[in-house]
Amino acid sequence: MTQNPTTQYASEAKLAKRQRLWTESRRDPDFDLYPWVLDLVGVRDGDTRAVLDVGCGNGVYEHLLRTRGHVGPRVAVDLSPGMLVLVTDAARVNADVERLAMTDDAFDVVLAPHMLYHVPDRVAAASELRRVTRSGGVCVVVTNGESNFDEFKSLMERAVGTGWKMWRPVDEYFSLERGAAHLRTAFDSVTRVDCPSSDVVVTDLDAFTDYVASIDDHYEAEVGVPWPDVVRRARALANEAMEPTGELRLTTSVGAFVCR
Ligand SMILES: C[S@@+](CC[C@H](N)C(=O)[O-])C[C@H]1O[C@@H](n2cnc3c(N)ncnc32)[C@H](O)[C@@H]1O
Repeated sequence: MTQNPTTQYASEAKLAKRQRLWTESRRDPDFDLYPWVLDLVGVRDGDTRAVLDVGCGNGVYEHLLRTRGHVGPRVAVDLSPGMLVLVTDAARVNADVERLAMTDDAFDVVLAPHMLYHVPDRVAAASELRRVTRSGGVCVVVTNGESNFDEFKSLMERAVGTGWKMWRPVDEYFSLERGAAHLRTAFDSVTRVDCPSSDVVVTDLDAFTDYVASIDDHYEAEVGVPWPDVVRRARALANEAMEPTGELRLTTSVGAFVCR
């Protein structure tokens, strides 16, 4: 897997395709990640705390903070200028989590959702996240568990069909199972909190196909098969799996580290 190909987040296009699979699919039982993350830090109407969102992508958390009535300062950081231009509900800073441009102790709440698995030096990143979190503040780091989307990984391995394994060596991945060790190098207290178990129930074959197409730059170099062929086969396999019920169920393992 290529950890952070520049093409992946050059614009919103690929991330938006993956987000579409999540919004188009039913959750069983019902679950919504973004409010769950903000609930972990207790964001309330009229909240004046200073919030930093690192690896903000297209600004989903900034939008939700504003609509929840957060009125304090909001700063959104991303390595990719192409993502930052989409953020409308925060001040925007183009920076690397390994070298944040902010002063020490500047934020009450620091979010790093679904981004540390792209970062080569997680110890440097943890140190920076800690440095900008005010004493008494909280940093919430969101990531996936190693069994997240196992059915998807099996389907992709069948679509490639060469014996290729989609899962990288586990100690290279910033997972729910292993990520705490990196964060403990900087924070005194790191508590893992798992999201409630909830399947993604895929019913839209086009949304599924777009999702597979969107991860081309992470995997094409290593699979030895042209990615458009992988996409075609994955679509056919998903269609076959959906035939009996009209659904393809993907189990999830997602959660957060609450760091102080
Ligand atoms: C999977 S997206 C997550 C976006 C958003 N946090 C969310 O949960 O919807 C990962 C984001 O992290 C950004 N990113 C990757 N490496 C980074 C780094 N070293 N420093 C800051 N941002 C980074 C990418 O550009 C991308 O926007």
